This record gives sequence, structure tokens and C-alpha cells, in this order.
Amino acid sequence: MTTSPDPDPNAVAPAVANLETIVSLSKRRGFIFPSSEIYGGINAVWDYGPLGVELKNNTKRAWWRAMVQDRDDIVGLDAGILMHPQVWVTSGHVGSFSDPLVECATCHRRYRLDELPGAEDLSQTDLRDETVTQRLGLVCPNDGGPLSPPRRFNLMFTSHMGPVEDDGNIVYFRPETAQGSYVNFKNVQQSSRKKIPFGIAQIGKSFRNEISPGNFVFRMREFEQMEMQYFVRPEEGAAAAFEQWLPKRRAWYEAYGVTPSRLRFREHAKDELAHYAKKAIDVEYRFPFGWKELEGIHNRGDFDLGNHAKASGENLEYFDQATGEHFIPWIVETAAGADRAAFTFLIDAYREEEVRGETRVVLGLHPDLAPYKVAVLPLLKKRPEIVELCHRLLGDLKRDLMAVYDDTAAIGKLYRRQDEIGTPWCVTVDVDSLDDGAVTVRDRDTMTQERVPLEGVKRLLLDRMAAVRP
Ligand code: GAP
Repeated sequence: MTTSPDPDPNAVAPAVANLETIVSLSKRRGFIFPSSEIYGGINAVWDYGPLGVELKNNTKRAWWRAMVQDRDDIVGLDAGILMHPQVWVTSGHVGSFSDPLVECATCHRRYRLDELPGAEDLSQTDLRDETVTQRLGLVCPNDGGPLSPPRRFNLMFTSHMGPVEDDGNIVYFRPETAQGSYVNFKNVQQSSRKKIPFGIAQIGKSFRNEISPGNFVFRMREFEQMEMQYFVRPEEGAAAAFEQWLPKRRAWYEAYGVTPSRLRFREHAKDELAHYAKKAIDVEYRFPFGWKELEGIHNRGDFDLGNHAKASGENLEYFDQATGEHFIPWIVETAAGADRAAFTFLIDAYREEEVRGETRVVLGLHPDLAPYKVAVLPLLKKRPEIVELCHRLLGDLKRDLMAVYDDTAAIGKLYRRQDEIGTPWCVTVDVDSLDDGAVTVRDRDTMTQERVPLEGVKRLLLDRMAAVRP
């Protein structure tokens, strides 16, 4: 048994009770802003601010480290967002990549059927049933009006390539990075001389015209994926690889600090499987709005390479020199979201603590994920020698680490500000530093302080980071 369903879904509390806590922290401290806000925003697109871009880049780096850098059997790729339109016909996305849409007959609002109150647990068969809204008495949550029978709504954004807009030059914004890896299977395998089993990893933007996006960056129309396609021998090779990737992917989130009890596996029911999948298990996280998919692990069989071989006329078989066999490899995919992962790290790191009668907000981010690794703070900003020493230290730290200087408040407040954005260490330069050449290094989590010689600060921080790196 590979899934671990939670007997009581409400038994595990989310890290924050109210999503608004994270939304407002993100805006206030510069993690995430609504896109085009001065024009009223655009639904389901979000911009990453100065701290958010660091967190997301660090998330992507951590994934790349685990999936490419640390492995001999996986190589990277960066394919185009726009691809030959036939890719999406062959992949099944033009025909099948759709959600059930219902519309209110009176206010004309549109909803994704399976997100309506009372319809969350409907089977895929029900979601395709024309009588379902009537049969279950579902009404519009806005004005109670009657809802139309569901119709399929394709999630791909389209555009036209070149100056003329007609059906002949339609292009799709990719809804997954995976297809770029499939159409490059032969290029990558031959140029890198990889033998099966081997993988292709990609990080990049994907686009979906989601019917009901929401819950902040959880479901967006423009987002980033971190996907790895593992090419294996058919059937048993895929089954074995699937079982191996499941615990590895869950362990990755735990290694970067996600509370293990807020993670679980959930297997897709037969009628819930995506059109390409033989088997799928999600790693789910206990978000403030319920258990939701964080990452999907899919056994895609030979669906993709088989169909691309047929449609393109290219031979996409692999020749196994050891056995003399030719075969279309099967694919096991680990499909994660960079935004969803960064969002999860952010939520799970949030905590409020009572310290001497005051509330301390801390983002207990793993040091590899924290936007800044260290803040350099002067105890007395009126003493130019102290400020100068701070800047000298900062310059040296910045060569190897994201470091920041702040002197815009008293030291207690400066510490709290850094706690709130997850900076693991603060280095304070005081009057004594001018004489003894030592500074105070303060730890975010324990709040303990230690005196360290100036020249040893960078080594200490780099060693501490290396010691906790998964
Ligand atoms: N290639 C397979 C695939 O795309 P998926 O389960 O549809 O599978 C993989 O997507 C991951 O991409 C999801 O687990 C999620 O982390 C992320 N993702 C998908 N749609 C998203 C959206 N609208 N907004 C943010 N992240 C999304």
C-alpha cells in the first residue's frame, strides 16, 4: 500500500488557521504582490517581490540540487514555452485537458463544478453527467439561480504565431513542461549518452486558463512547474520506479522543513486519472483551506512517447545494448509546482511565539530557502566606525551569501524584522567590536547570541549552512 490516507482529515491542524495571515505578511514584507495592482490587478496572476523572488529561486535551486546536481541519472533541459501545435494534439491536451464548467442562468457567473459546495466529492462520471446539477439540486452560490449542465472547458491559452490570426497558425501556451522533455527525448538521450533508466528535469512557466483559480498562489493561471520525466523499461520498470520516487519526493519537502504530519499521499481513483496516467499519487499538504495537491507522481506508461512516435513518424524507441531489445520507454513523472512548493514552505515556516510578553513572528525557513542568510546590524548607527565595519563585513559576506544591512530601528526591532522574514542569523557590530574585532552572531530560532571574531563569521555561517543542507 503506497498511500497514507488520514483517518480524520481535520485531525491535523494547518500551520496557520487563516490564509490571510500569509497573504498580508507577503504583501507587507515584499514576498508576493497582486499582479498589475495599480490597474486593479489581474485574476490569478501574482508577482514575486524582493523577498519572494529569493524564496522561489531558492526553492527551484533546492529542487534542481536534489533532482539533477545530486544524481548521475538525471539531466536538465529548458524547452520553449511555445511548441509545435501538433504536440498538444498528440499529447491529448487539445482533446482532453478540460474541467467541468457550469453557468448560472440568472447572474451568468461560471464555476468549476467540482469546486461548488456539495459537489467536491463527485466522481468523474458524475462530473460529466448532464443531469448532475438538477439531480443534486445544485444552485449558484452567488444568487441561488439554476445552474447549466456541465460542459467541458479546455484550459489551454492560445495565441497566433505571426501577423495573421487564423486557425492555421494557432499556438498554445504550454500547460505542462513535460511535453518539452518528451519531444527532446532522443536529442537528450543521444547527446548525453544516458542509458535507461534516466531522467530529464525541467523548471519553467506553464499556463492554464483555470475556471476557478484562487487561494492566493495555490492555483494561478501563470505558474511555474518543476517536473522530472524518468524513462524506464516498460511495465515492471515503471512500477518499481514509481514506488521509489514516492518516498523520495515526500522526503524532499520534509528535508526542507515541512512538518511531516501535514503531508500525506493520496491515490487518484480510476475515473479521476488524467488522460495520460495509468496510476497517479499526489503528495498532499494540509493547507489552511484543506488537504490539497502539492505534487503529482504519475505513471504515464508509453502514452506520450508512443503517441509522439506515431504522430511524428520518428522512431522514439530505445535500443537496450545489454539485451538487444528495442522498446518505447515508459515514463514515471514527478510533477511539482515551484509556486506551490514555495507557498508551502512559507506557510509551514510561520509561527508566533510569546517572548517576554510580546508576540514574536518567526519564519523558521530552512537556511537554504531563507531569502537572506544573514543581516548585518549596527548597535549604534551614529558611530561611523561601527557603520563602516558593518559595511566591510557585509561586502565580504555578500560575495558568498545573500546578506542585508539595516539600521533603521533599534536593535530589538531589527531582530524582529529579520525573524519575520526568516533570516537565520543576525550579526551585530557594537562598540566593543572596534576594540576586540569580534561581533555578536544571533540565531533566529534559539535567539542565543555568541561572540565570534570578525574574520571567522563567514566560515561559521557557511559551515552551519552546509551542516543542515539535505
Ligand atoms: N505534467 C503533469 C502535470 O502537469 P499536474 O498535477 O497538472 O501535472 C503538476 O501539475 C503540479 O503543477 C501540481 O502538483 C502543482 O504543484 C502545479 N500546478 C498545476 N496547476 C497549477 C496552477 N494552476 N497554479 C499553481 N500551480 C499549479
